[in-house]
Amino acid sequence: MTNIHDLQLELSALSPRDILKRALSSHEHIAVSFSGAEDVVLVDMICKLSDKPTIFTLDTGRLHPETYQYLDTVRKHYNVPIQIFTPDHQKLQPFVAEKGLFSFYQDGHGECCGIRKIEPLKRALSNLDAWVTGQRKDQSPDTRASIPAVQADPAFQGKAEVLYKYNPLANWSSEEVWNYIRMMEIPFNPLHTKGFKSIGCEPCTKPTLPNQHEREGRWWWEEATKKECGLHSGNNA
Ligand code: ADX
Ligand code: SF4
Repeated sequence: MTNIHDLQLELSALSPRDILKRALSSHEHIAVSFSGAEDVVLVDMICKLSDKPTIFTLDTGRLHPETYQYLDTVRKHYNVPIQIFTPDHQKLQPFVAEKGLFSFYQDGHGECCGIRKIEPLKRALSNLDAWVTGQRKDQSPDTRASIPAVQADPAFQGKAEVLYKYNPLANWSSEEVWNYIRMMEIPFNPLHTKGFKSIGCEPCTKPTLPNQHEREGRWWWEEATKKECGLHSGNNA
């Protein structure tokens, strides 16, 4: 495989579909990480490019009811399995017993995200050599402005020598994503019709007002530079 810097240069000129196509042809063990939001465009693309796509979701146990319904809508629409990774009860139960269900409002989201998202993500990625995310530069000027089309992800490297992380939508704007969703008549999460631009866990996400940045609806009680949960730890490096 070409070195990652050269690959990045090459991929940055390609369309999201071509980046994904290239990623699929380069890795045997590769999966799309689907949050249940507008990153559904990646599900659409991988289902059209591959007969046996691997798609996974991290079910934190705190997603909106609409998101759970939507995950199943997508599963049925594409007739494709979506692997669901849940938190380890041996870590979750003592945490909730000690701190309750809303400790993140007092002491930050790090510990809860660590148990509900990061540890399950480690498990999801442990046997992969590449993963694909729906991150975009325009999602956050504070933490995502320089997201590349591909990067090495040392934070979650399991058995792979290098874990490749592809961000095919990095250069797409929200408008381009939504044009694609409309053009392809893809089902979308109904929360988007209720003012939610960015969608995460229910207690940590709220709708945004016109002209408010989408990231302002996530962990709104924390500083803009801290609005990453650790899934994309490289963004803050
Ligand atoms: S987050 O880190 O702030 O939660 P965001 O919601 O912007 O991330 O989503 C960016 C990308 O991270 C998604 O397109 C998806 O690839 C991945 N992601 C985020 N949340 C999840 C989730 N619950 N399950 C699977 N992938 C996720
Ligand atoms: Fe917990 Fe909120 Fe992080 Fe979800 S986003 S895992 S509820 S702190």
